[in-house]
Amino acid sequence: MLDWEELEGYANRCARCALCRTRNHVVFGVGNREADIIFIGEGPGEQEDLTGEPFVGPAGKLLDDMLSIIDLNRTNVYIANIVKCRPPHNRDPKPEEQEACIGFLRNQVALVKPQIIVCLGRIAAQRIIDPEFRITREHGEWRLRNGTWMTAIYHPSALLRDVTKRPDTFTDLLSIREKLQEVHAKI
Ligand code: URA
Repeated sequence: MLDWEELEGYANRCARCALCRTRNHVVFGVGNREADIIFIGEGPGEQEDLTGEPFVGPAGKLLDDMLSIIDLNRTNVYIANIVKCRPPHNRDPKPEEQEACIGFLRNQVALVKPQIIVCLGRIAAQRIIDPEFRITREHGEWRLRNGTWMTAIYHPSALLRDVTKRPDTFTDLLSIREKLQEVHAKI
């Protein structure tokens, strides 16, 4: 396992997949490196690629609003993506791109040691929780794996496209707040 400085340096120089050829910035991750909770998205979009920071475009603004509903913000959570470089035209990251990149995320999670992992959308949920994960059926459900609680909620981009999903996400957010209170009570 690498420390933060080594890991970020290595990511910034990474050429393990073709996405390195079209990126402007590696989007490593942001937030509190000692957070109890980590949110995992899919991959950088255009704004993220231009700035080097995850979730700064329209979906990111919504994510900030979602976090604030449950008293969270970028100082008390950590935020990262499955792939660190933007897939062209915001297509889904290919399995080989995810495979090339997932080691960075594993190392990040090992360093943060969160009690709770929240996957944002299907791609992250299928990569982290279960390859067969069905986001419409299983969002908001909790699983305990190796002492870490895991769940998935709709991706903020999906909530921008389809507002009818928002009430379910509100419920899921309240459940995340409850889980945080539960793990805090155990410490
Ligand atoms: N969507 C993601 O999944 N991640 C980002 O960083 C931005 C948009």
